[in-house]
Amino acid sequence: MEDKNTFLVTTPIYYPSGKFHIGTAYTTVLADSMRRLNILKGKDTYMLTGTDEHGQKIQQVAQEKGKSPQEYVDEMADIAKKLWEKMDIQYNDFIRTTEDRHIKIVQKIFDKFMESGDIYKGEYEGLYCVPCETFFTETQLVDGKCPDCGREVKPMKEEAYFFNMQKYVDKLLKYYDEHPDFIKPAFRKNEMINNFIKPGLEDLCVSRTIFDWGIKVLKDPKHVVYVWLDALTNYLTALGYMSDDDTLFKKYWPANLQIVGKDIARFHLIYWPIFLMALDLPLPETILVHNWIMMKDGKMSKSKGNVVYPELLIDRYGLDATRYFLLREVPVAQDGVFSPESFVERFNYDLCNDLGNLLNRTVSMVNKYFGGIVPKYNGTPNEVDKDFENYTLEQINKVNNSLKEYEIANTLQEIWNIISRTNKYIDETAPWTLAKEDKKEKLESVMYHLIENLRKIAILVKPFMDDTANKILKQIGITDTSIINWSSLNSYNLIPENTKVIEKGEPLFMRLDAEKEIEYIKDGMKK
Ligand code: ME8
Ligand code: MG
Repeated sequence: MEDKNTFLVTTPIYYPSGKFHIGTAYTTVLADSMRRLNILKGKDTYMLTGTDEHGQKIQQVAQEKGKSPQEYVDEMADIAKKLWEKMDIQYNDFIRTTEDRHIKIVQKIFDKFMESGDIYKGEYEGLYCVPCETFFTETQLVDGKCPDCGREVKPMKEEAYFFNMQKYVDKLLKYYDEHPDFIKPAFRKNEMINNFIKPGLEDLCVSRTIFDWGIKVLKDPKHVVYVWLDALTNYLTALGYMSDDDTLFKKYWPANLQIVGKDIARFHLIYWPIFLMALDLPLPETILVHNWIMMKDGKMSKSKGNVVYPELLIDRYGLDATRYFLLREVPVAQDGVFSPESFVERFNYDLCNDLGNLLNRTVSMVNKYFGGIVPKYNGTPNEVDKDFENYTLEQINKVNNSLKEYEIANTLQEIWNIISRTNKYIDETAPWTLAKEDKKEKLESVMYHLIENLRKIAILVKPFMDDTANKILKQIGITDTSIINWSSLNSYNLIPENTKVIEKGEPLFMRLDAEKEIEYIKDGMKK
């Protein structure tokens, strides 16, 4: 794919069933971070999220709560928007599948598929999981239960429309083959082929008649559109596809990055590309499938009393520490584990000791030795300084490579390697001795390099922890936006003359009393 100067990233639209836990927030925090990264790279970015508001489950839950489905989803969409605001998720658009702009186009798309023969009428008989809104065949079940959520399935039969998947299977396989960046991580591709395509991809049932909380098929209104066909098209309808104003669609489609959790990989890696092919539209550049945040005793669930809500962490430890933990602890291609112990440990070690102290020590030394003015870059760094520069630049290279694969936990590890190396550089050069021995030139160079590395560190962490990055930049006196961007990471002499650090910086993170905070989080999880 050509390197367009736009970047479109989407998250799945959320299935609104109450409060969101830290697991569900992960997809969107990651998407927001990629949006921010691309802004730092100078791209025109667009981020889409929203809520998936139709289907039998929602109708049921609303009924149980004595509400109309619309009332219920209105409340849920508000909850979602408030959480994203709290997490500083700066999406460009939030689409709700109950909005007119979405409904109208889904109906048009369904019509188009009926006309082209991609959708035909038949009868469905199968085992249905209500919470997952999915039919399964006998062989797909695990211990007789839903393979996705482990709950009971029940036999159901209905007149239904089907999407002819068979027609596109070969084309899809060929596409997988010719586009190695389409699915990340790559093992998900084989999973799709081996688990779903090789055993024989069945045509997908794309309408329902047993309930009515959904988008009506215009030409056959006792049918509502299957919630997945409805939901997946949000990525197009939000951009005005097939509408009177498709400017956004023309500008941003195909998406550069669509991020989804592993449980919905099948829908995004098989059905979604096939729908796009049937519409004759280009496919997204990359669909990234991430693993899950688990608890020590397995999945988070209310019944186990092991659910962690983002509010619990954000209100006490701040947004950046929460975002850092999620992204650092869940490698995209493997499950990560949340525990109160590891949260507090990451806070105290990574954030407080490594990053916080580095900034603190540096700012106070520049104040002490040079009255707060950052010395000029010495064009001929000595061996120790050169070595330090090289290490940092190599590490930045590694950061870029892992970002290409969206290996975010690795990315953060590599950034923290720079932080550790910078701390080590202080011990290695022992500025206090240089000062005592009056080795002014060496001392100047050390201070310059520390500030330069802190500038780089601030830029590197900015996509993930914006507030922290801004605090660092402020403390080291960097305000010029032309040196706060991704391309400036590769240079070593960008700090303007007479840059002045602040006199006394607030600590970025205050050390936590581990025992007390572990208890605090444990208690919060019980509520
Ligand atoms: O799936 N760790 O919505 P959803 C990490 N409406 N990610 C997790 C997680 C965990 N413990 N639990 C859930 C839906 N997720 C559909 C999408 S798109 C056209 C329709 C992720 O609210 C999950 O994998 O059930 C998914 O990416 C996202 O949260 C929303 O899940
Ligand atoms: Mg789900």
